[in-house]
Amino acid sequence: MDYLPLFVDVAGRQCLLVGAGDVAHRKLKLLIGAGARVTVVAPVVDDEVRALCADHCDIKLRRFVPDDVIGMLLVVAATDDSDVNRLVYESANQHAVLVNTVDDAALSSAIFPSIIDRSPVIVAISTGGRSPTLARRIRALIEARLPSGLGKAAEVMERWRKHVREAIADTPSRRRFWDDLLDGPASKAMYDGNVDLANSLIEARLKQWNRGAPGFVSLVGAGPGDPGLLTLKALQCLERADVVFYDNLVSADVVAMARRDARRVYVGKRRAFHAVRQESINAMLVDAARAGERVVRLKGGDPFIFGRGGEEIETLAQQAIPFEVVPGITAALGCASYANIPLTHRDWAHSVRFITGNLSGDHVNLDWQDLAKSDQTLVVYMGLRGLPEICRELISHGMDPNMPSALIGRGTLPDQQVVEAPLSGLPDAVAKVDIHGPTTVIIGRVVALRKRLTGG
Ligand SMILES: C[S@@+](CC[C@H](N)C(=O)[O-])C[C@H]1O[C@@H](n2cnc3c(N)ncnc32)[C@H](O)[C@@H]1O
Repeated sequence: MDYLPLFVDVAGRQCLLVGAGDVAHRKLKLLIGAGARVTVVAPVVDDEVRALCADHCDIKLRRFVPDDVIGMLLVVAATDDSDVNRLVYESANQHAVLVNTVDDAALSSAIFPSIIDRSPVIVAISTGGRSPTLARRIRALIEARLPSGLGKAAEVMERWRKHVREAIADTPSRRRFWDDLLDGPASKAMYDGNVDLANSLIEARLKQWNRGAPGFVSLVGAGPGDPGLLTLKALQCLERADVVFYDNLVSADVVAMARRDARRVYVGKRRAFHAVRQESINAMLVDAARAGERVVRLKGGDPFIFGRGGEEIETLAQQAIPFEVVPGITAALGCASYANIPLTHRDWAHSVRFITGNLSGDHVNLDWQDLAKSDQTLVVYMGLRGLPEICRELISHGMDPNMPSALIGRGTLPDQQVVEAPLSGLPDAVAKVDIHGPTTVIIGRVVALRKRLTGG
């Protein structure tokens, strides 16, 4: 960390601003906004600066002298003369006074962050003076996610803080109470500044809480791998989680997005080796929720597509545990998009079939007659082992041996692999490559579009 982030109470404290042009005007606004007593030193003062000063500052119409820094909490050099700025910097350092030179990190012991001001909530962003443009971009990204009434909410929450602390003694439960509140109807009332409604909702929630708060399970789709494909809702769940149960299809980058203090429990299941049995996973979810925890069950792709999500929520429903299901981008969609294969096309495919190529015994048991039709796209999950049989059966049930097909390994991840071949040659083409799982197979005329769309 290059700089220590710190919020400084400057109200009523002496600060010095050297310069009185455009740049100085912006800093003056900030200093006055925070209640500082500002002395402005400059031979010439802009009308705008003069107007802003009114009764908040002293103006000294002269050049800066080193003794000006004495007794100041903070000094800001905002002139376009680098010699003056350097002199201000050196004088401030000599007297151990914090100094900022506008747009010059080398002549600053303190820098102004880029801010989002929803007072009393302030978000400050710094790139350590390296790129104001990047800081502005980060600010825009954060700003878009923040409710506009954040400041009003902070004020309501502050008024309830003491009361809630008395009512809920232990810290983790108290944190859950506030988190729950911000997810419920009280948050809208707070953001809207509807204080009466917010107060009555908080009061009701507090009474209900004291009768025993149940935990909550979010069954969350983590997408196929690229963390950028996580939904906003999934991210919010991860940021609030007390415990995250995840399996081997969830990428490490996604697991890393969970709240820093959340417990992370691996319950991975692989084809032949079941690390934790499904019944045990179901029981772990129930136990954690009964202990009052906010549980996130992270599943690769979408929980309801070959993910046994249905079984997990069935257990939760039976045990009367409150839950939600947060959909994710399934492997078929992620792999197709990242490999430039449109799954439907007006001329080539009018439907898509998601099928499992999992072996049952030694065979893949599917309705081959139906699947061999050529005006549809087949997406085969878990089809690597059964690939030779799948291709053989489709061809023997009438599918064109030249039907375009592709196998996508580690779809959406930086090391994604795509093996493309006519259906009859796909197993051999795949056998020649060192494939890293998981893999998805796409079969259909749309696969031929990939070359055009990839520019190949
Ligand atoms: C048990 S299923 C889970 C599917 C998941 N629920 C979904 O919606 O994507 C596992 C299969 O999904 C496919 N899969 C998951 N992630 C993948 C990825 N990044 N690339 C290719 N295939 C993937 C593979 O076929 C894998 O064998």
